[in-house]
Amino acid sequence: MLDKPTFPYGTGFRSLTREVAEPVPLPVCGELPPWLRGTLLRTGPSKFEVGEQSYNHWFDGLAMLHRFGFAEGRVTYANRLLKSNAFCAAEKTGKIAYGEFATDPCRTLFGRVASLFDPKLTANCNVNVLTMGGETTALTETTLPVRFDPKTLATLGVFGYTPPLRGQISTAHPHYDAVRTRHYSYMVEFGMQSHYRLFSVGDDGAQDLVAELPVDRPAYMHSFAMTEHYLVLVEFPLTVSALALKFSGKPFIQNYRWEPERGLRFHVVDKDSGREVATAKTDAAFAFHHVNAFEDGDSLTIDMVAYPDATIIDALYLARLRAGTPLTATGALTRFEVPLTGDGAVTRGTLAPVALELPRINYETRAGKPYRYVWGTGIQAPGDFLDSILKIDIEAGKVARWYEAGLYPGEPVFVPQPSAGSEDEGVLLSVVLDIEKDRSFLLVLDAAMLEERARAEAPHAIPFHFHGNYFASPSLPA
Ligand code: CO
Repeated sequence: MLDKPTFPYGTGFRSLTREVAEPVPLPVCGELPPWLRGTLLRTGPSKFEVGEQSYNHWFDGLAMLHRFGFAEGRVTYANRLLKSNAFCAAEKTGKIAYGEFATDPCRTLFGRVASLFDPKLTANCNVNVLTMGGETTALTETTLPVRFDPKTLATLGVFGYTPPLRGQISTAHPHYDAVRTRHYSYMVEFGMQSHYRLFSVGDDGAQDLVAELPVDRPAYMHSFAMTEHYLVLVEFPLTVSALALKFSGKPFIQNYRWEPERGLRFHVVDKDSGREVATAKTDAAFAFHHVNAFEDGDSLTIDMVAYPDATIIDALYLARLRAGTPLTATGALTRFEVPLTGDGAVTRGTLAPVALELPRINYETRAGKPYRYVWGTGIQAPGDFLDSILKIDIEAGKVARWYEAGLYPGEPVFVPQPSAGSEDEGVLLSVVLDIEKDRSFLLVLDAAMLEERARAEAPHAIPFHFHGNYFASPSLPA
């Protein structure tokens, strides 16, 4: 039986392939802060069909880059498809040629056997954008970030780690350590003996191995935690056998099994020595996104958007989303206290009893340190897709919300006001889809009050997407 359509949000999962290659000025309603001079770069799945074939899952779609350029109270917009290996092969053959998160190309038996010896990793970087090792890169969950020109959005090629590292899967959420002036990240190498490999990339582009942890059944992890001195890999009990991954013939994520009896496992690694200084275990949970983490005496505080299990992954198949199926799996801001010494138990508690996703903080000043505010998308109407913007005040235990019926906001990126005095002084930039108008607009909210400062209508509807970042650039023309 088909699910009864309940919400109109399915529009957000329709393909957008139209490119606005030359930046166009957007009409602005309200007033953009005069100090907003820079670029918001975002990526997301945008092309869900290739020839007669379709991708299965929201996370599979071919990537589109979006650029909002700000200067002198004005904003321009441009967008281009990322010319990744997956995109180019699809263009050339008219078929899905690379395996994605939950879609595999249809292969002949011969093709399937051949691919075992020559695994083709997708570089369809539809998850996040950041500057790493001096390059503007788009990232996905394979070990192939793609460099692109932040001005023209032209695809430049794969970001090569130097020296190279072995691994197939990685995270699109590296952390930046402003003291050590390097990004930290990890790779997963599947093999007879699988490994997690933690590494860093300096601002000069040089890669440095931090630690290698052998693992029997690697976990599906979308992000990790970082404090001043430590990297923390949190293994969710959604795990895979490397053999199954190689031989099952099923799409990537369908090889993973939910095994709650394994619990949630924390691996704490010292950034400088590479030693695993603590491990801890508690009851099962799942998360895509870590929010922040910090050191607190003999323990670590680790905040994430936790779900009771991994059914959220199933809820994000395109057929369900396009039918407007009510979303019943929701995550909440959850705090874990992990002891660094002895046999102390991990404690956990919900910081705000509301649905939250795509969390952001004042990363520049608060990453890895005690902090007070989390912004993110939330759900106002029960069962709806992410339909509002939240501000959670952890200290006061308060939640503020921006909501307008029929509008679906994306990840709110916090941009601090220059020489800001408080943690929440600045604006949020969010790409919002207006279902009725069938158009998206860039929303600028005051980050402290969640009051609207301005909106600027884009030339088309932008499909729902994941992440992006704002790059301040005092000399950049819009
Ligand atoms: Co993410």
